[in-house]
Amino acid sequence: MPDRMNDNPTLAALRFNGAPVVVTGANAGIGRACCEVLADLDATVLGVDFDSEIMTAIGDSETYGVNAKGYVADVSSEPAVKDLASQISKNHSSVAAVINVAGTNDATSFKILQLEQWNRIIATNLTSVFLMTREFLPLIQISRGSFVNIASTYGWVGVRNNTSYCTSKAGVINLTRQIATEVGSSGVRVNSVCPGPTLTPRRQRSFDEGRSNRRDAEQRTLLGRMASPAEIARVAVFLASNAASYVTGASVVVDGGQIAFIGPHD
Ligand SMILES: NC(=O)c1ccc[n+]([C@@H]2O[C@H](COP(=O)([O-])OP(=O)(O)OC[C@H]3O[C@@H](n4cnc5c(N)ncnc54)[C@H](O)[C@@H]3O)[C@@H](O)[C@H]2O)c1
Repeated sequence: MPDRMNDNPTLAALRFNGAPVVVTGANAGIGRACCEVLADLDATVLGVDFDSEIMTAIGDSETYGVNAKGYVADVSSEPAVKDLASQISKNHSSVAAVINVAGTNDATSFKILQLEQWNRIIATNLTSVFLMTREFLPLIQISRGSFVNIASTYGWVGVRNNTSYCTSKAGVINLTRQIATEVGSSGVRVNSVCPGPTLTPRRQRSFDEGRSNRRDAEQRTLLGRMASPAEIARVAVFLASNAASYVTGASVVVDGGQIAFIGPHD
């Protein structure tokens, strides 16, 4: 008698069977949630963050399994990303997927934005994706694997006082398409995920400190609530897996209806 769970081809396509998956920004929020979902699906989690706390976080074998490993690297730095790829290639002959989550925000109007601020956001959110993709392509090609890049709904629309962030995320959406066009013939897939408002510890702190308002964020969605980090991570990991084997060059919006909604009729 077939075992419905183990012999089921749909569930099998979602599983990673111990294959390594690299996640950047793995120490918090959506990146951390991606690591947890990947561990549930039997991936070997390789978590990258510039916060050295990642080493102890990923060392929790109860959550991530005994083969998971943390790496400290600033993914906006070319030498750091080259060194990361070289370290990982010493331990793994191929990588099944890279999920680029690391990112940061800077809510400043272009009228007063300093060049240093602009360069920092573009480097962290956009250049990091270019560097990670270029350096990990050889390891990904071996497994005919995939890249998933976390963009944002803010890459699709204009948002006041968010010049560098919105521009960087629009760049991630089209960089994703661009790379997909260049690697498709080798069987490698590249997709982006555009989260709407997501209740990460960072956003919770900003509500607690009165820097932003949770109700405003919720009311801009059709579902009237923020996403949990896991709700974003499950879609990112699905795209990374073989269950999404015919999806490439796509930008998948996961936003509770935020950008489908223009506001109340006036
Ligand atoms: N939270 C949201 O509402 C939301 C909405 C849309 C898009 N996003 C995007 O999702 C991603 C994750 O967001 P989050 O809210 O989980 O963020 P977060 O701040 O909670 O976590 C980001 C992680 O990335 C790490 N990181 C930042 N810069 C890095 C660098 N240069 N090198 C290595 N690690 C670095 C941080 O140390 C941190 O652990 C970001 O790209 C963000 O723009 C978030």
